Amino acid sequence: MQGTLLTYGSKRYLWGGLIGAVALFVSYFYYSRTMTPSGSTVWGLVYGWIGLIAILVLMFLGIRKRWYSSHLGTLEGWTSAHVYLGLLTLLIIPMHAGFRFGWDVHTLAYVLLVVVVLSGIVGLLIYHTVPVILTTHESGMLPDKLEAEINQILKEMKHFAAAKPVVFQHLYQEEARRCRELKSQGWRILFTRVDPAAILAQRMRDLHNLLADIPATDQEGFSKFAGLVLQKTELEAYLAGQMRLKNGLQSWLYVHVPVSIAMVAAVGIHLLVVLYY
Ligand code: HEM
Ligand code: HEM
Repeated sequence: MQGTLLTYGSKRYLWGGLIGAVALFVSYFYYSRTMTPSGSTVWGLVYGWIGLIAILVLMFLGIRKRWYSSHLGTLEGWTSAHVYLGLLTLLIIPMHAGFRFGWDVHTLAYVLLVVVVLSGIVGLLIYHTVPVILTTHESGMLPDKLEAEINQILKEMKHFAAAKPVVFQHLYQEEARRCRELKSQGWRILFTRVDPAAILAQRMRDLHNLLADIPATDQEGFSKFAGLVLQKTELEAYLAGQMRLKNGLQSWLYVHVPVSIAMVAAVGIHLLVVLYY
């Protein structure tokens, strides 16, 4: 995705962005020579409306992203246009305001817009510097399939443990608890280091230590059971790594999206203030 984002469609949005920026500079040059720029002049209002439309188009990406059946351009095209249009708002709005800012809700809207644009740039950098997004596990499974596979192993373990000594059931319960813990980690997983090899080695040691408590008649069953535990541990460690990567890749969106909504609200108040008061 990152390769095509900036250069999508033979750089059409890159060129569009550059031409837009030049047009803005030229128009502002003439505008500022004919009158004192401010938000309430005719030119100022034109920039204001263009800015508002640009913001609505930018917000529409959230809908387009989830509108899977839409034939309204490709998602890459929309995102590429989004980046350049987003950057242009950094020019359009100050030109609208005549580069005059105060301690008011109008300026608050602009400050929020700057935060949204900066977080967008951070997101773009993250997409560029993190080369692998979601790869498949050695088994050829994608992360969403892994969860189903882990649940399947857990079911097998439960079934297996039912007719065995209590140590099997304890082990099953512990595995079920680990599974719940992993799923409920959410964003904390970003700050947890995952070393699959170390986790697997530790589980092997734990299982080996348990072997002494297993009656001779159940030793063979236990090694089968231990095989399931290790298979599950391996899949879980891999899944945790992938969840961490996915959360890291998307962390900036937790600034980008809420702040963009707050910005739209501030723009709404700005319009109410300037149009009705
Ligand atoms: C249809 C869209 C818009 C209209 C009609 C509009 C209208 C106005 C008007 C009439 C003013 C002058 C207010 C005054 O001098 O007291 C103004 C100033 C301003 N507007 Fe807008 N605006 C629009 C969109 C936006 C948007 C989208 C933003 C920011 C995200 C924005 C940010 C500002 C700022 C920062 C000022 C300068 C405030 C100041 O001088 O302290 N405007 N706008
Ligand atoms: C006023 C400016 C902007 C607004 C209001 C805005 C708003 C949004 C919204 C609502 C989404 C959809 C997120 C979602 O639903 O998951 C989005 C996605 C995105 N934005 Fe912005 N954005 C702005 C500027 C920028 C800028 C300047 C950049 C980059 C330099 C940028 C980069 C992105 C990217 C790459 C995505 C797609 C994320 C993904 O699909 O993983 N945005 N933006």
